[in-house]
Amino acid sequence: MTVSLEDARALDAADPLRSARDRFVLPDGVYLDGNSLGPLPTATIDRLREVAEQQWGGDLITSWNRHGWIDAPARIAAKLAPLLGAKPEELLIADSTTVCLFKLLAAAVRARPGRTTILTEDRNFPTDLYVAQGLVEMLPHVELKSVAAGEIAGAVDDQTAVVMLTHVDYRSGARHDMAAVNAAAHAQGALALWDLSHSAGAVALDLNRDGCDLAVGCGYKYLNGGPGAPAFLFVAKLLQDELRSPIQGWMGHAEPFAFESDYRPALGIAAFLTGTPSILALTALEAGLDTFAGLSMADVEAKGQALLDLFIGEVEARCGPEVTLASPRDPTQRGSQISFTHRHGYAVMQALIERGVTGDFRAPDLIRFGFAPLYNRFEDAWRAADTLADILATRAWDEPRFHARAKVT
Ligand SMILES: Cc1ncc(COP(=O)(O)O)c(C=O)c1O
Repeated sequence: MTVSLEDARALDAADPLRSARDRFVLPDGVYLDGNSLGPLPTATIDRLREVAEQQWGGDLITSWNRHGWIDAPARIAAKLAPLLGAKPEELLIADSTTVCLFKLLAAAVRARPGRTTILTEDRNFPTDLYVAQGLVEMLPHVELKSVAAGEIAGAVDDQTAVVMLTHVDYRSGARHDMAAVNAAAHAQGALALWDLSHSAGAVALDLNRDGCDLAVGCGYKYLNGGPGAPAFLFVAKLLQDELRSPIQGWMGHAEPFAFESDYRPALGIAAFLTGTPSILALTALEAGLDTFAGLSMADVEAKGQALLDLFIGEVEARCGPEVTLASPRDPTQRGSQISFTHRHGYAVMQALIERGVTGDFRAPDLIRFGFAPLYNRFEDAWRAADTLADILATRAWDEPRFHARAKVT
């Protein structure tokens, strides 16, 4: 069943989250790539200016105490906690997702001595696979075992040290059953490590309820922290005494300013800090997290799924067999993004972008659309489908300039 533009606008008028859109600076057109880079929050520039001009420019080094710079990673973690269903003292903001993955994967393997396997999904995000491959090269007794997504739970055995998965798949948006995988891992005495890059800020998570051990995720996607924003890591309270970070930096020491020659880990999550926090980047991430103030993640997820349903319905009704849905139809089994295959997906996406509908392309043939419920409207979903239908019907994508691949797709 298709809807009209007026129907879509009526859905926007009734949307309880509609005012959250004012928290962002948005380009003209339809931005459906917040799953890669969230837009600039309206508050961010003033916050950055204040921290740069008054704190860095005016108060210089005294800002570490006077403006609480030293506590920024923990303070910002407390703002992230309700989005993840975690306790603030289980979270830390630091490094990139890749570095956080290395820290937690190495810590997990060390916490299960004698076990020989890291278990993952063969189509996991490349950085996750590369980190695991690098780690097993350093640890000759450990191997990386990759299986298909549906075979994970059955592949855990008493040799599995840790199961490492991305919760929402970056290509298809398919979502793992986190509680079930955690239970399967725990039944065999293994740990589970989740990459939440495509989940945090998009779907309602409850890491504590679902028995999550370890997790990491990006700050620059749905959390709106800016390009290359710091990442987050989660270590369940019960594991914090058992796990040791493999990167023993001075900021993770029990007393950094005692300048002792020997490492003593800080108590709790702080032991996973490495070096000096990046204050300007943390300032932007904090403003990004503030865009969630007062919103319930259940409402955010429900709106995201309704946007996806409308988009799928319109595309399938109007675009013909040239495009095929490559994402789950069941809302409980997907994140907040939708992909379709098209034989000339790259060119189709470039034509869409030129007409103001920004999604992205993932090789070999996926056109991908991320719906961020804080600022995307039902009207956006309708317009994106309408533009796609027109580009396909007129073959507007079939021009040489749309086929020339750029570095970032
Ligand atoms: C699932 C997933 N993990 C990790 C990353 C990259 O992490 P970073 O570049 O912050 O290290 C991405 C980037 O898109 C991703 O999609």
